[in-house]
Amino acid sequence: MPASLPNKYRPRKFSQVVGHSLIVKILQSSIERGKFSNGYILAGPRGTGKTTLARLIAKAINCLNPKSGEPCTNCENCIAIERSSFPDLIELDAASNRGIDDIRAIREGAQYLPIKGKYKVFILDEAHMLTKEAFNALLKTLEEPPPKTLFILCTTEYEKLPPTIVSRCQRLFLTSLEPRLIAQHLESVCKQENIDFEEEALMQIALASDGGMRDALSILEQVSIMGVKITKEIVEEALWFVSLSRIRNFIKLLASSNVDSAILELRNLYRAGFNLQRFWTDLESEVHNLLLYKALKEPSKLLRADSFYLEHDIPLEALLYIEKLIQNARLEARTKDPLLAYETAIIKTLIVKEILPISKAIEKASCNEDIMEKLSKNLEPQLFNLLKQVKREETPDKITFYLLGGEFSEKDIQKIKSIDPRINFEIVKEDNSYKEMVRKEFDAHIIENESKGYTP
Ligand SMILES: Nc1ncnc2c1ncn2[C@@H]1O[C@H](COP(=O)(O)OP(=O)(O)O)[C@@H](O)[C@H]1O
Ligand SMILES: [Mg+2]
Ligand SMILES: [Zn+2]
Repeated sequence: MPASLPNKYRPRKFSQVVGHSLIVKILQSSIERGKFSNGYILAGPRGTGKTTLARLIAKAINCLNPKSGEPCTNCENCIAIERSSFPDLIELDAASNRGIDDIRAIREGAQYLPIKGKYKVFILDEAHMLTKEAFNALLKTLEEPPPKTLFILCTTEYEKLPPTIVSRCQRLFLTSLEPRLIAQHLESVCKQENIDFEEEALMQIALASDGGMRDALSILEQVSIMGVKITKEIVEEALWFVSLSRIRNFIKLLASSNVDSAILELRNLYRAGFNLQRFWTDLESEVHNLLLYKALKEPSKLLRADSFYLEHDIPLEALLYIEKLIQNARLEARTKDPLLAYETAIIKTLIVKEILPISKAIEKASCNEDIMEKLSKNLEPQLFNLLKQVKREETPDKITFYLLGGEFSEKDIQKIKSIDPRINFEIVKEDNSYKEMVRKEFDAHIIENESKGYTP
C-alpha cells in the first residue's frame, strides 16, 4: 500500500516545514550552536507539526553531516530515523502509556548512553495524558537529566501540564496554519503527485481543515482518489465531516449563549462547503455523549474516556435544553432552509444562562405560547387584550389567570375557559398594591374601549 499523503509528505528537513518560521529558526540555530535544552515542550493544535518537529530535532542533533542545524537526510542516522529504526529515538504515546511504569522504563533507559547516535531522544506524545505519578517520575529525570538525553513533550493541551514540568523545559507554541499557506502546500503536493486541480478547490480544502495540515492532506487524498480533476464541486461533496474539536467548540459556544460566534461559525462552515446536515447530526450525537457521561454511573464502560467529557462544566439542564433545540432544528431542517432552522436554534440558546429547571421551562414556554396563541385566535381582540393584562401563571399542565373579581362577565369567563381545558381562573384576595395597579390599567382600558363604542 502506498504511503498516505500526510505520511509521504512529512517534512524531512526544517526548511520543508510550513509556517512556524520563528520556532524553526530558534531550533535550527540552537542546534547549530550545540546549545539546546534538555527538555522541550511543543504545544499546539493537532496536525500542525508537533511530531514532525520533534523528529526533526532528533534527526538534526544526531545527523552525521548537519549543515547550519539542518539534517542532511542522507546519512545512516537520518535514514534510520526516517525509517523509525533508530535505537536512540524512543517515541511514547502518553495517551496509551500513561502510567508510572512506562516512565520508569524511560528513566532506566535514559541512564544508558546512546547506542548509535550522539543523543538519546525521548518523544512523549500527548504528554498531558500522563498520570500524576508518571509526571513526578519524569520530573526527577528532568531535574537531573542523564548526559546526552533529550526529552520532547508534545501536547495539544498545554494547560494540563504541571507547572513543575513546564518550568524545566523550553516551550514552543505552534499555532494553526494559515489557510493560504496550507493551500500553497497542497498545490505543491498536487504538482508532485500529478493531480489536476482548481485553485479555488484547494483553498476550500484549506479552509475546511481548521488550520491543520494533516487534515488538509487527508481531505486532498480522499478527493484525489477519484482520479478526476479536483474541483470546488467535488470538494464540496467530499467534505462531509467537521472535526470533533470544532464540534466541541461549537457546543461551548451554545452553552455560553455566544450567539454571535456560533452563527459566524455556522456560516463559515456553510461557506467552506461543509454539509451542514451532517454537521448538525454529529453535533447532536456529541451532545448526547456529554449527557450520557453525566448521567451514567460508569460511563467508561460505554464511552471512551475523554478529558472533554470529564472537564467541561456545562450544567445538565443546559445540556438537555441544547439537545432539545438541536433535535427540533434537525426536524425543521427537513422542511425549511436548514441554515435558517439551525440559526433559530442558535438564537434560542440566548436563554441558556437563565435556565433554572430547564425541563420545566421548555414545557412552560410551549404551553404558554400555544394557549395564548389559541386565545388570540378565538377571542374578540378587545377581550383578548384585556385578558393579556391579567396576571397569569403557567405550569406544564395549566395556565391560571388571577382576577380581582368583576373584570369579566361570567359569560366571558366561560367563553375563555371553553377554548382550552388547561385554562383556570382564580380570584386574588390579598396583594392590594397589585390590585390597585390592575384596577387602574383596567379602568384605562375600559374607558378607551368605551370611547370606541365597545361594551364588554
Ligand atoms: N507545519 C507543517 N508543515 C508541513 N507539513 C505538515 C505540518 N504540520 C503537519 N504537517 C503534515 O501533517 C502530518 C502530521 O503532522 P504531525 O507533525 O504528526 O502533527 P501533530 O503531531 O501536530 O499532530 C505530517 O506528516 C505532515 O504531512
Ligand atoms: Mg503528533
Ligand atoms: Zn544526516
